[in-house]
Amino acid sequence: AETHYHQFVIQSTPVKRLCKTHNIITVNGQFPGPTIEARNGDSLVIRVINRAQYNISLHWHGLRMLRNPWADGPTYVTQCPIQPGGSYTYRYSIINQEGTLWWHAHTDFLRATVYGALIIYPRLGSPYPFSMPKREFTILLGEWFDRDPMLILRQARFTGAAPNVSVAYTMNGQPGDFYRCSTQDTLRVPVEARETILLRIIGSTLNQELYFSIANHQMTVVGADAAYTKPLTTRVLMIGPGQTINVLVTANQPPGRYYMAARAYQSAMNAPFDNTTTTAILEYKSASRKKGQSSRPILPALPAFNDTATSTAFTAGLRGLSKVKVSKQIDVSLYFIVGLGLINCTNPNSPRCQGPNGTRFAASMNNVSFVLPRSTSLMQAYYQGIPGVFTTDFPPVPPLQFNYTGNVPRGLWTPSRGTKLYKLKYGSRVQIVLQDTSIVTTEDHPMHLHGYHFFVVGSGFGNFNPATDPAKFNLVDPPVRNTIGIPPGGWVAIRFLADNPGIWFMHCHIDSHLGWGLAMAFLVENGPSRSQSVIPPPADLPQC
Ligand code: C2O
Repeated sequence: AETHYHQFVIQSTPVKRLCKTHNIITVNGQFPGPTIEARNGDSLVIRVINRAQYNISLHWHGLRMLRNPWADGPTYVTQCPIQPGGSYTYRYSIINQEGTLWWHAHTDFLRATVYGALIIYPRLGSPYPFSMPKREFTILLGEWFDRDPMLILRQARFTGAAPNVSVAYTMNGQPGDFYRCSTQDTLRVPVEARETILLRIIGSTLNQELYFSIANHQMTVVGADAAYTKPLTTRVLMIGPGQTINVLVTANQPPGRYYMAARAYQSAMNAPFDNTTTTAILEYKSASRKKGQSSRPILPALPAFNDTATSTAFTAGLRGLSKVKVSKQIDVSLYFIVGLGLINCTNPNSPRCQGPNGTRFAASMNNVSFVLPRSTSLMQAYYQGIPGVFTTDFPPVPPLQFNYTGNVPRGLWTPSRGTKLYKLKYGSRVQIVLQDTSIVTTEDHPMHLHGYHFFVVGSGFGNFNPATDPAKFNLVDPPVRNTIGIPPGGWVAIRFLADNPGIWFMHCHIDSHLGWGLAMAFLVENGPSRSQSVIPPPADLPQC
């Protein structure tokens, strides 16, 4: 095993897109940021130096960080932010994980521009469960804003309204042919006729889930969220913020140029729906050499933005290839309802109350809208025994029973606020049913759990029925994910073994929902032995 050293300088960098230049926060001046490559078993040492004007921390999305929450990164959860002028070195090892992951800023909206790929190859000599092509290509799906995303966030925070939607979707930072001033830089993915390539597709959008398709070409899914899947052939896939999907694509069409396109699935809450399309070009090498080719590539058909059936069928169709088996028994059974909400204002005419009908937006799990501490991080408070920073009374079931996906009475739209954690004993076998609600509206929520990956054992529409639904769970070959969408107006059931002590954030990976409080955290206690306990924090861990 090797140790890889990186230096990440956080800085403000002028970047031009859509005919206009503005400053965004980058790592080392690159947008998207640098790609990290390693093998299973390797270690990483990443020194982060903050030369920007904002607090920041970085998260290595999907890496388990066994016993090492200090390297996980979410601001005020496992660490205080790295302040302007400060630095922090993330040190961690990759333990029994391989596939496609990514890293991103985990402070306010900074991940809009601060993100990159994190690719884990198998150990030397260890095979892939499919025939691995010679060539691979990584596509980071993103969003572009017409000004500093932090200003948009501040505006949304101040007014209590929904944040402005992005002005373009991007692939590796490029909007592509269908946007102003973007044709020159459209991303190109070269292929030889008849060859198969591996595409690593990363859902690094801020607030938007996307459909993705390639004209005239099938895709065979072989992995998702750094876990292998049984091969699944599809024309279209849906990828939410936080998810990754690996597909094999064979260049078996007449040599030419074919668009790869991504467009919105569901629209951001209360925002004008954006039906624009980001494109890259799959370019057969023989075809690109032809002179004078001016005709546009073929565009793939993409489902309508409200085509929930296609999205849900794709996600539910994935089957895992995990060597670890899902536990048939469970020790802890949790039921979390997830939804948006509105907080009433005493003065609805106030400029701070620009939500619908003079309210402010909120979002919650089991009616608790999560509030991050400011004085220190949850993990530092826990480790040092600082009282008063959080409580451990997060409700294991909804505080009120009602028809969650029915017509929810307005009186139930208002969440309470709190910093509530749920305590888990080391080694407990946990099941969580995540239930969408129709409070304000039904939406797909890509839910991400830090420090773990989990089996997705079931999903459905309507309210989860504890009497009949568990009998239909897939305990044979469920896929392993770290981020799973709760279907709009439906539910999803996940299972995991609580074998990673520490404090681990769980939240909707749509950043506007996260900002409104759609989050909670688990406190997983140390096991009986030292090798089952959180390691001591590094000396340079930032203080608040
Ligand atoms: Cu990808 Cu809490 O984040």
